[in-house]
Amino acid sequence: MKENIIGLLNKDLEGEHAAIIQYLTHAYAMGEGEMACEIEAIAREEMRHLDWLAEAMVGLGGAPSLTRGEMRTGGQSVAHWMRNNVLQEQDAIAMYQEHIQAVADTRIRRLLERILSDEKSHRGDFDHFADKAQKQGVKDLRGSRRDKAARTLNWGIEHEYTVVLQYLFHSYMASNEQVKKEMEDQAVNEMQHLGWLSEELVDKGGRPRIEHTEVDKSRKTADMLRADIRLEQEVAAEYDRAAGETKDQDLRQLLLRIRDHEGYHADLLSDLLKKEARS
Ligand SMILES: [Fe+2]
Ligand SMILES: [Fe+2]
Ligand SMILES: [Fe+2]
Repeated sequence: MKENIIGLLNKDLEGEHAAIIQYLTHAYAMGEGEMACEIEAIAREEMRHLDWLAEAMVGLGGAPSLTRGEMRTGGQSVAHWMRNNVLQEQDAIAMYQEHIQAVADTRIRRLLERILSDEKSHRGDFDHFADKAQKQGVKDLRGSRRDKAARTLNWGIEHEYTVVLQYLFHSYMASNEQVKKEMEDQAVNEMQHLGWLSEELVDKGGRPRIEHTEVDKSRKTADMLRADIRLEQEVAAEYDRAAGETKDQDLRQLLLRIRDHEGYHADLLSDLLKKEARS
């Protein structure tokens, strides 16, 4: 029975994951307008859903899936994207309704009902954005730039997406409360990096490609920390190298700022590892 609920929650989680990336792709492509901000706020609500689902599942003895559900990223205009988002929400609504029927556990049902009410509200929001985008002619600001600067930014995006997933996974699986909290904080910070890099790339006429590479799924705290520290050290060096190679001042500033954060993460995680080794 428990396995059954874990399976359902993982399906829900995969749907949230897809919605987050779909909406962020849209928000970044639209630049700095009001609608982009509102879409980003919806993506943040989906992140909270993902978080609640993952915690509930871990409470039942499961492990969160890192598979992304199906996205609808096609569409020729922003209005079309928004209609795709309405469909995405409709699928989510149907799935939550089905899972609410299937789950007997009151606490889990309550959680799914709570999320369902958000999805209904999102569906209305996207319906409204579709009309508004049509009337106001909101545009896709992405270009086709593919030079070295664009490649560096997309490399960063790929890295940041990977570590967001990795740190979330580690935070859900960690038994040590302090490690759990630090990992979660760090995931939020990496999410911020993902946003900065994506916005910078669109601003420079490129197209963010939000895909990730392999995620470390260690279950033991010391193993997680070692994998994370190695990654942080590698990318800090890579951001540093890329910053040194570019003549673009804005890009350089951004890469150095992120490099500093990654260095900070590596130090912080190293302290946690030392503490873990002593315990
Ligand atoms: Fe959601
Ligand atoms: Fe939603
Ligand atoms: Fe980062």
